[in-house]
Amino acid sequence: MQNETHTPIAPDLFREAMSRLGSSVHILASDGASGRTGATVSSVCSVSDNPPTLLVCLNRGTAVNGQVKENGVFTINTLAHDHTDASNAFAGVGQLPMNERFALADWETIETGAPALKDARVSFDCKVTQITEVGTHSVIFGEVVAVKSSEQNKALIYMDRNYHAL
Ligand SMILES: Cc1cc2nc3c(=O)[nH]c(=O)nc-3n(C[C@H](O)[C@H](O)[C@H](O)COP(=O)(O)O)c2cc1C
Repeated sequence: MQNETHTPIAPDLFREAMSRLGSSVHILASDGASGRTGATVSSVCSVSDNPPTLLVCLNRGTAVNGQVKENGVFTINTLAHDHTDASNAFAGVGQLPMNERFALADWETIETGAPALKDARVSFDCKVTQITEVGTHSVIFGEVVAVKSSEQNKALIYMDRNYHAL
């Protein structure tokens, strides 16, 4: 690491730059002591295949953040192109209560008890193993204890602040 000091760019400029990247869209879902909850997320990344681990970055200003930490389990459900209504609802569009967001799709459980979207392209069933706080977000590491894939369907991609089918 160099010993020079640099001023970080403005948050708006960073968000604008990040909007150029295309990402898969997922619904993170969780259940347990803190109740059933979920959020639309794109910040999912593979970390390691042994033990199988992924990470997701969750805004610390949202209720779902504390609920996932308390529940200790979550799923990452990768969306297909026809899941835009559920994606919008779990991103807070319309401010629907959580039970109405879940009612927009069909759910099951796999191993941890966290809700898994039945027709997701793939669902990763995870238990929380580590959390690192970075600025506005918590980086939550999940060990993947089960996966379930469905018939291949066009993916839902978010890029340039819009949905795309791929
Ligand atoms: C395409 C897309 C991707 C998103 N990715 C993330 C993410 O990775 N992490 C995050 O904390 N919020 C992300 N959000 C925002 C959350 O979905 C939203 O803040 C969260 O659901 C809270 O909304 P609510 O408090 O109204 O329920 C994303 C939103 C959209 C539309």
